[in-house]
Amino acid sequence: MAKTTTRYVCQDCGRTSAKWLGRCDSCGAWGSMVEEVVERSTPKGRASGTVRAAQAVTLGEVDDASAPRAPSGLDLFDRVLGGGLVAGAATLLAGEPGIGKSTLLLQVGHAAAGLGADVLYVSAEESPPQLRLRAERLGCAASDLMVVGETRLESILAAVEEQAPRLLLVDSIQALRSAELDGPPGSIGQVRHGADRLVELCKARQIALFLVGHVTKDGGIAGPKSLEHLVDAVLTFEGEGASGFRVLRAQKNRFGPTGEVALFEMRDRGLVEVPDPSRVLLARRRGRRPGSSVAATLHGARPVLVEIQALVAASRLPSPRRLAVGLDSGRVTLLVAVLERFGEMAFGEQDLFLNVVGGLSVKEPAADLAVAAALISAASERPLPDAAFFGEVGLLGEVRPVAHAAARLREIAGLGFARAVTAPLDEVTRPNDLEVVEVEDLAGLAEALLSVDRA
Ligand code: TYD
Ligand code: MG
Repeated sequence: MAKTTTRYVCQDCGRTSAKWLGRCDSCGAWGSMVEEVVERSTPKGRASGTVRAAQAVTLGEVDDASAPRAPSGLDLFDRVLGGGLVAGAATLLAGEPGIGKSTLLLQVGHAAAGLGADVLYVSAEESPPQLRLRAERLGCAASDLMVVGETRLESILAAVEEQAPRLLLVDSIQALRSAELDGPPGSIGQVRHGADRLVELCKARQIALFLVGHVTKDGGIAGPKSLEHLVDAVLTFEGEGASGFRVLRAQKNRFGPTGEVALFEMRDRGLVEVPDPSRVLLARRRGRRPGSSVAATLHGARPVLVEIQALVAASRLPSPRRLAVGLDSGRVTLLVAVLERFGEMAFGEQDLFLNVVGGLSVKEPAADLAVAAALISAASERPLPDAAFFGEVGLLGEVRPVAHAAARLREIAGLGFARAVTAPLDEVTRPNDLEVVEVEDLAGLAEALLSVDRA
């Protein structure tokens, strides 16, 4: 292919240069120059020249975007997507290396092929024999899934044109290289260009596209991050350790709800769907112990009960440690301040550690009350009563109601808890067999814990 003209553009100030610069000589930013195609040697779209005005229509005439959905064959995966695969939609599957992205996509591809869809799996990181080994382990080697082992973008685009699949899985976007750019695979320019071309082709051919993007722990997500605006949906895949739970979450979704989550477990024969997260997450909870509370959280539309653990220990450091895993650390800092001011607690010389068990991340303020209860329990070394908590704690120590109280109460009752502790609720349907303890502030919470304890 004839060489295409490219240039480097500073992502901070917009300065362009024919050559790559380690530091932008205009604004001084380091590593901000990204390679872009200026003029393609083979025109990619319609010949330019005459410009036709874009057609405007009234909003009422616009096509219904509730795109038809095709099931992938993995129910929970479909649920996170908002109901299944959408033709022409591009989805980024982002996660740390080793978390299970390839495993998930292979299982999805296998399941979809089993339902009769034409699926093409582009394996750019592993050779097809390696992929086959993995497939054997997963019990899906005898699949109708089509596989191509290729890293060259242009060859992949040609293969997609030829195969015309319904579902295209690309693993990974960082391993692709276009001959049109000089940069190495994984450079922002290559990643963006590769995604751009794939998205464009799949939109035109109505192919559902999934791109795997690796994200690093230290937030070095420059590559996939720069793709977020290009794709229709971003799914993140998270978890702890090589085995155990994996959480698939829709972070952005142009075709469905965001925040929807699905829980999977990584077993030795691949990922297994966990249809009932609350039960599984609480199954390993060992009785009522100091520092352990249960929060009724919401993920997408579904309530999920999670265990929150707190550890309070005398600190040897001049400024004690505050570490929260799975929680918003800013909220935890606020909560600790409010507990000290209105809850008559003193954490000044103590290290505080908080963890959401099972690897789920809980960022909603509704978890405040459970976090406060866990801290109170840890500090007082007394277990909490048989209860689950939800409610936001305000800066003045007040406990505020949160959305979807009825659904949370139902989940709490469904899991067999005797009571729920929450903010004052007005007209919320309460399950019959559940005692609802309404607290107005942190003092009320402490009181409720004591009185329930004695009961
Ligand atoms: P993988 O899908 O390769 O991760 P990614 O594509 O996100 O880098 O998953 C790799 C990990 O999953 C690896 O540590 C081994 C583990 N694994 C299992 O535990 N069971 C299995 O059946 C498979 C295929 C992998
Ligand atoms: Mg992989």
